[in-house]
Amino acid sequence: MLGDARPIGVFDSGVGGLTVYRALRARLPQESFVYLGDTARIPYGTRSPETVRRYAREDAEFLLRCGVKVVVVACNTASSLALTLLQDECPVPVVGVIEPGARAAVAVTRVGRIGVIGTEATIASTAYPRAIQAVAPGVQVWARSCPLFVPLVEEGWAAHPVTAMVANEYLAPLCQARIDTLVLGCTHYPLLAATIQQVVGAGVTLVDSGACAAQEVAALLEQRAAVAPPEAPPSTRFYVTDASDRFRSVATLCLGEPVTQLEMVRIGV
Ligand code: DGL
Repeated sequence: MLGDARPIGVFDSGVGGLTVYRALRARLPQESFVYLGDTARIPYGTRSPETVRRYAREDAEFLLRCGVKVVVVACNTASSLALTLLQDECPVPVVGVIEPGARAAVAVTRVGRIGVIGTEATIASTAYPRAIQAVAPGVQVWARSCPLFVPLVEEGWAAHPVTAMVANEYLAPLCQARIDTLVLGCTHYPLLAATIQQVVGAGVTLVDSGACAAQEVAALLEQRAAVAPPEAPPSTRFYVTDASDRFRSVATLCLGEPVTQLEMVRIGV
């Protein structure tokens, strides 16, 4: 059998990474997946770099035990703080969301003024501005953390007027900076894309880092002749680290369908 039938591993601090899984599945419908949502320890976005790195390492170890052929770090916070560490330690390729998002933003900006939004830890890490300026040193970047966005999405309030008010408040400085491109640097933010677009206006292009990472994974598998063989039927296993009611409801939001095959696991300690 040609190719590689092993699944693609995806991890996130919780359910938001399903936006990345959704993009991966759309781009790679023939592939099998193992998704780990570390729901017992979410949020990562308010934690110290050391803690995020420890969690990320444990998440990747779990996926490796599941026999994955590549690890996708769907979580922007973990990608910002732990990607190099995981790439050094893992025996399989590890793909994060920062560089693909940064490259896409550079490709679409017309005026060289890019905004980035993410969790507090992602923004504090400066991973996005560094990745953007590594590709295009002349580009200017404005970064802003939007800590209320994650709980608003998880509350099911993506289209609620409160979310529009919060978005106005957070995004005003970026609008004043006359950005023409905005990187959605957090797993949950694609679910707020309509509200964010309304606030920043149609002249600003939104970049979904997760979707960009899916392209990168597809290219990597092709390069390594590691795409799943057509005769292997694709499947997905979902794992969480804590009771999963919220996971199920937000998962339905993310995927537009209920999640089946959900299992609880213990990782770390
Ligand atoms: N998954 C996280 C991210 O993309 C958001 C939620 C969290 O803070 O853990 O940064």
